[in-house]
Amino acid sequence: MDIEKTLQALTLEEKMKLLTGKNNWENEDFGGKLPSIFFADGPCGLRKMSVIDDSTHKNTAYPTLSMLGCSFSTETTKMVADAIAEDCIENDVDILLAPGVNMKRSPLCGRNFEYFSEDPVLSGELARVYIEGLQERGVGTSLKHFAVNNNENYRFYQNSELDERTFYELYTKAFEIALEASPWTVMCSYNLVNGIYASENPWLLKGVLRDKFGYNGVIVSDWGACMHRAKALKATLDLEMPHSQASFGELKQAYEDGFITEHEIDNSVRRLLELIEKCQAAKTYRKAQKTKEERHKVAVEAAKDCIVLLKNDNSILPLKSGSDISVYHSSSSSFYGGGGSSHVETENKVERIDAVLRKRGENITAYTKHYSPSGTKYSIVCVGNSPEIEGEGFDRENISLFSRHNEMIERCAEDNPNTIVLLYAGSAIDVSKWIDKVAAVLYVGFCGEGANEAVADILFGNVSPSGKLAESFPISLADNPIEKEEEYEPYVYYKERFDIGYRYYDKHSEKVRFPFGFGLSYANFVYDDARLIKHTETDYTIQFTITNQSAIDAKEVTQIYVQDVYCASERPVKELKAFTKTLLKAGESKTIQIKLDRKAFAYYNAALKDWYVENGKFNIYVATSSQDIKAEFAVDIQLDEYTQFTAKNTKLL
Ligand code: GLC
Repeated sequence: MDIEKTLQALTLEEKMKLLTGKNNWENEDFGGKLPSIFFADGPCGLRKMSVIDDSTHKNTAYPTLSMLGCSFSTETTKMVADAIAEDCIENDVDILLAPGVNMKRSPLCGRNFEYFSEDPVLSGELARVYIEGLQERGVGTSLKHFAVNNNENYRFYQNSELDERTFYELYTKAFEIALEASPWTVMCSYNLVNGIYASENPWLLKGVLRDKFGYNGVIVSDWGACMHRAKALKATLDLEMPHSQASFGELKQAYEDGFITEHEIDNSVRRLLELIEKCQAAKTYRKAQKTKEERHKVAVEAAKDCIVLLKNDNSILPLKSGSDISVYHSSSSSFYGGGGSSHVETENKVERIDAVLRKRGENITAYTKHYSPSGTKYSIVCVGNSPEIEGEGFDRENISLFSRHNEMIERCAEDNPNTIVLLYAGSAIDVSKWIDKVAAVLYVGFCGEGANEAVADILFGNVSPSGKLAESFPISLADNPIEKEEEYEPYVYYKERFDIGYRYYDKHSEKVRFPFGFGLSYANFVYDDARLIKHTETDYTIQFTITNQSAIDAKEVTQIYVQDVYCASERPVKELKAFTKTLLKAGESKTIQIKLDRKAFAYYNAALKDWYVENGKFNIYVATSSQDIKAEFAVDIQLDEYTQFTAKNTKLL
C-alpha cells in the first residue's frame, strides 16, 4: 500500500470516520475500500468474538500471564506466545489485545492474574519476548493498559495520582522495556493519570509514550475508554474502539471550531494506514503449523514450568506411583483462568486432577464438597478461586479462600499429616489457617487447560517444579502495604511510592508468608565460584557455577538484585535487575554469565528528568528468591563528576 497516496485519496470525512472502529472488533474499511483489521483478546489464549452476536470461538487456554511470570522464563513465555499466534492465524485475527503489564500494586486487584508481576523488570522482559513471539509470526499485539491501571473497582473514572519517580521507576518501566519489541499497538487505560483521562492525556500519550519512550505506532483506546474524541486526537490517540456513533460528529464540530487540524487527523490516519499495511503484509506469509494437539501440549509444557512448589515437608513429594490417594475438591480444580475479557472458552475439557490421575492408572478415591475421612495414605485437597472471585471489572474484598475451602483443608490435615494442597488462584492467598498443618502446597495458579496434566507430572516426579512467585504472598491482608478502599474516592494517591511487593517486604520481612522469587524444587542446587568481572564503572559481568546435586533433572531460576547502599534519594532496599532459568541434568554443573549495565544502578531523577547513577557503593546479589542470597559483591561506582549529568547524559542540558 502506498501510504501517502492512500491518505491523499481519502476525503476529510472518511479520515475522521477512520478514527473510530467499524464495530466491536474491526477498524473502519469503507465497505472494502480499505483492508480491515480484526482485534481479539487475550493474553492467555485467543478469545475471538463474533461481530454479529459476540459469541466466541473455542481455542486453547494457556497459563495466564501471572503464571508465566512465575516461570521466570523468557523461553516458555515466547513458546506460549508463538502458540497463541497459531490460533490467531487460524482464526484470521490480526491484533491480539495483549500483553498486560500493569504492576500488582495490591493483592486485591481483580486482574492481577492477567499481569506478570509486582516487578517491572520481570514484567517488561517477559512482555518483550511475548510481543516478539507473536509478531515474528505475523500477529500484532497491544501492550496494555497504559498506564497506572492497578485496580478494577472504579477503573472507568478513578484518578491514579503519583509522583514522577514512582511513575517512571515502577509503573511505566515494564512498558518502556516491552516497547523494545515495537508492539504494533499500545492500548491506553480507562483511568485518569494525574487528573486527566489516559485516553486524552497529552503528557501521558505524546509526552511520555511517544516523545520520551520513542513509540511511533498506533495508540488504541481500551474499549470504551475514549471520553472526548477530539481531545484524544490532540493527545495522539489514533483509534477509538469500539465504534462510537458520536465521534464523527464531535470530530467534525471540533474541526469546524478550529480545535483540531487536518494535519493532526492525517498524523493519526497515517499511523492507522501503516498498521493496516503491516497486517496486510503479514497475511502474505503467516501460516499456522501446529495441530491443536500440539498446541495443547504447549499449554501442558508451559504449565509445568510455571507451577510453584511452596511447601514440601520431609520431601513428601514426589509421590510413588500406586500410592493410596484421596482427592478432595470443591470444583476449583477445573479453573484455568480468571473472569473477563481474557477468559478463553476451551475446546479441550479441563479435566480435574482426580480424572487425570485415574487415567494414568493411579489409585484415587475422589470426594467432592464434603469432607469424610478416607484412611488413605495421602490426601490431596484442591482449593482456589473461580472467575467470579478473580476477574476483570472488580477487585477482591480479601485474600482469603472460601471458609469451606479452609475448613476442608483443616479437617483433612487433622486426620492425615500427609495432606497436600493444590491452590488454583490468580493472585496472593492468605494460607495462615492451615499452612502449618499440611505437608505440601503446590501453587497451580490459573495455569490453562493443561494445568492438571502438569500437576500430575509434578506430583509423581516426572518433572521437578521450577516456578518462582512473581507476586509476594503476605501473611494477611493487613500485612500488605496498600490500604483497602473503604469507599469511592475520585483519586487513589500512590503515597507508598515504590513500596509495593518485595520492595516493601524487604523492610518488613515479618509480614510476608512467601517472598517474591520464592519456589522450591525437587533438586538441590549448589552455587559456587561466583565472580564479578568489571568492564567499566557501570558495566559488569557476574559469573557463577550452579551444580544440580540431585538425581533428578531440574531447572533453576537465578535472580540478580542490586542495592544502592547510600543515595541522596530514597531507594528500595534492592531491585531485581536480571534473571535467568537454567536446565541442569542430574549431577550437572553449568557456569552462567549475566551482564549488568548502567540501567542496573540508575534511578529516575526528577530534577534531571532522566535516569541517573549517583556515585557510591552498590551491592550486587545473586539470589534464588528476594530473601535467599547465594553470593554478593560490593562495587564502588566513581563516574567522572564532570560528565555525570552533562548534555551527553541527560536531555535537559
Ligand atoms: C476490556 C479490557 C481490555 C480488553 C478490551 C477488549 O475492557 O480492559 O483489556 O482487551 O476491553 O475486550
